[in-house]
Amino acid sequence: MENNDKKAWGGRFAEDTADLALKLSESISYDRRLARQDIRGSRAHARMLAARGIISAKDGETIQSGFDQLEKELAEGNVTWDVTKEDVHMNLESRLTAIIGDAGGRLHTARSRNDQVATDTRLWLRDACAQTVGAIHHLQSALHRRAQENVDVLLPGYTHLQRAQPVRLAHHLLAWVEMLERDRGRISDAVQRFNQCPLGSGALAGTTFPIDREQTSKELGFREPTQNSMDTVADRDFIAEVLSAWSICAIHLSRFSEELVLWCSQEFGFVKMSDAYATGSSMMPQKKNPDMAELIRGKSGRVVGALVSILTVMKGLPLTYNRDMQEDKEGLFDGFDTVLLSLQVMAGMVATLSFQEEPMARALKEGFADATEIADWLAERGMPFRDAHHVVGRLVARCTREQKVLAELSLEELQQEHAGFDDTVYEVLNMERAVERRDHVGGPARAQVQAQLQRWQTLLEGRANALTPTDPI
Ligand code: ARG
Repeated sequence: MENNDKKAWGGRFAEDTADLALKLSESISYDRRLARQDIRGSRAHARMLAARGIISAKDGETIQSGFDQLEKELAEGNVTWDVTKEDVHMNLESRLTAIIGDAGGRLHTARSRNDQVATDTRLWLRDACAQTVGAIHHLQSALHRRAQENVDVLLPGYTHLQRAQPVRLAHHLLAWVEMLERDRGRISDAVQRFNQCPLGSGALAGTTFPIDREQTSKELGFREPTQNSMDTVADRDFIAEVLSAWSICAIHLSRFSEELVLWCSQEFGFVKMSDAYATGSSMMPQKKNPDMAELIRGKSGRVVGALVSILTVMKGLPLTYNRDMQEDKEGLFDGFDTVLLSLQVMAGMVATLSFQEEPMARALKEGFADATEIADWLAERGMPFRDAHHVVGRLVARCTREQKVLAELSLEELQQEHAGFDDTVYEVLNMERAVERRDHVGGPARAQVQAQLQRWQTLLEGRANALTPTDPI
């Protein structure tokens, strides 16, 4: 490791950084990912400096043309990253100065790496949030399509992983759409809060130069400049907030994955995975494993890990910037990559699932999912629900002993438990009817589910047109 460039820190340093110290402190190996944002921020800063006469118009132009060249080199993959220049900011500035000479050295007037890195990270995170929101949209759309195709498929809904009551498959799928909607909302809320421009905060106490913070903020698409220079360089709550929203989203994906793993087991048999999203076993030829669902479930741990990491990094830091904060980036990048890929793969998996109606119907029939119906039937006829619950419990016990379902009990057998039973009870022992009777907002009756499907259709279609394609980051 070549280590002989102290210029960035100026004349105070006579000795080189120890190699291992350099290894500990460098961030160029990962923060080069902020290069495009760094240039964008620097261009805006330079334009503002020139507009305010802090640097000459000529230097301003030279800097922009230097960045033209540098962006070309970046696009072509021709930038050599130098670990002795520590981070992306110093690497780019040094290359800029190599291209344009002295004007490059003027770029850093009225700026510190502290407000610079806060700006780069916010710019990057804004795009990252837009991409995850887009990926959530695609997954919601895939779920919505599958729900539409399966309005008339019934299956048992579960509590405690025990068959509970009949529901429509569409209703079940739309439950995930609702959860994803809140994930989307949390991410968008966070963006609203952090979309302020740090430039001008300097190292911590602003600058003596007559800067125009409105100009840079506007050029970079921020809502407004941040309002306290110390807060601006000191906090990374916006990273914790987005990682928290992504973590909750990753946990939703993990739970959904777990459900798919269960559903495609031979024990359930409710879905078959497309070959494109399953793998085989190297030893057991009969196996088809739901690895993608398992991996999405497993990878959620990385996102939560990144959240715990940034919270722990920040926990003991006094104001303002502390170098610990450089540790904010790797977890953020990894959390983003993980959650984005998981959302994308999940959308593909959902689109290609094949739902198995017959095993669902069998589970429904054998699962006493209609037990509540009889209890309700008795309660409607005046029996306290608690007593009705007890009567039906005894009927279920009898069916279990005799290996029958409730609808197979004769009227005589029913009346042995309770004399008030009559023929009309068989009308409620029908799964379709049981679902249809739950006809209120948020319920699984056909009309309710259709109304929800329509609501989502309008919402998702409206958004599809508004989705802004964001550049790859
Ligand atoms: N690489 C640094 C980081 O990510 C940039 C800011 C450095 N500031 C400083 N005062 N050393 O945090």
